[in-house]
Amino acid sequence: MNPTSPDPEATLLRNPLFDRGRRWPDADPAVWAFHRRMPAYRATTLFDCPDLARRYGVGRVLVKAETQRLGLPSFKILGASWATYRALCDHLGFEPEPWANINDLARRLNYLKPFGLAAATDGNHGRAVAFMARLLGFYCHIFVPAGTVPARIHAIQNEGAQVTVVDGDYDAAVARSAEEAGDRCLVISDTSWPGYDVTPRRVVEGYTTIFMEIDQALGAAGAAQPDVVMVPMGVGAFMSAAVSHYRSRPWSGALLGVEPADANCIQVSARAGSMVPVPGPHRSIMVGLNCGLPSPVAWPRVSTGVDWMLSIGDERARQGMRELADSGVVAGETGAAALGALAALHGDATTAEFREAGLLGPDKTVLLIVTEGATDRGNYQAVVGRPPEEIGTILTLAR
Ligand SMILES: Cc1ncc(COP(=O)(O)O)c(C=O)c1O
Repeated sequence: MNPTSPDPEATLLRNPLFDRGRRWPDADPAVWAFHRRMPAYRATTLFDCPDLARRYGVGRVLVKAETQRLGLPSFKILGASWATYRALCDHLGFEPEPWANINDLARRLNYLKPFGLAAATDGNHGRAVAFMARLLGFYCHIFVPAGTVPARIHAIQNEGAQVTVVDGDYDAAVARSAEEAGDRCLVISDTSWPGYDVTPRRVVEGYTTIFMEIDQALGAAGAAQPDVVMVPMGVGAFMSAAVSHYRSRPWSGALLGVEPADANCIQVSARAGSMVPVPGPHRSIMVGLNCGLPSPVAWPRVSTGVDWMLSIGDERARQGMRELADSGVVAGETGAAALGALAALHGDATTAEFREAGLLGPDKTVLLIVTEGATDRGNYQAVVGRPPEEIGTILTLAR
């Protein structure tokens, strides 16, 4: 498929459950304050991409690049770190304050050992939990679905975690990880199940730091709020953080969620009026989005707070990777989904309703959340034609 040809797999839905009047509470400032105490914390970059704006006929394309976050190549550490910390506080029954940095915290928690963390993952969340366990000196056991690419498994092992490949899909890995919970092991899942929803809510809270940073950068640059915000959706936890932020205040813009064509459980659920599964196998290269059921914790916000839902085929993700590389942003397959969505919205016949709603045009600012960097180097090079290190040029709106 060439970049301007239509995506045969694209489907657009104007969310029938959207409720513009509904307000959700915004982030707890304690979350951002916590992340500022993490090693090597700095706000990720908000890129200004005039080439993309020209190509897609909009005033401005901003890219919030979660391609390097606290030393990891995706935003997931924000949720995993905050959720781990809060789960530890619950386990202890108090907050282990005061601590100035993570080494300090690790020392305070030393007496708990041997102590561990467990999680299921399709890659990024598990690596983030493993990273957190390493910082705290805990052991870690991560469960991955069959077929997880070796590069992702090795990245988790390199954080010092034991990795078990479960004979089944992501949901089977989640079920297996839940069995690890005990006095000496906390399960840090970003997906909820009956009786387990506190930690997944904390994971969502952790993601809100991204939106606080975006507002800070826009404010520092004297730039207006975006008109459209495009966010990738797997189980919807990340989108749920976007809803908390943008639907906590009067905002005239639109939130659009993007999913892979064969794992579009949020769009299918919104169409059906309640959560319904989309059975696998889910084989998209946007692996972080290969989910067959929305998270029950995320669903109330996502179902009422997202204006538009779009499913795209893998070729759009590849196109997004290449075009982001041309703008100096290293985005992996899942990370490029938001730009893939903008490409599908630009000219496809199936997405005309979006254009007719007046959401794209020379006076509009589109914000794309790029949620991961090159997590699979081999495939990155195969798609983009260059290794990640060769991608350069940075036009920064503000840091
Ligand atoms: C890189 C990346 N982007 C987006 C998502 C989607 O997040 P959620 O499952 O919370 O919708 C994931 C989930 O694993 C991910 O790894």
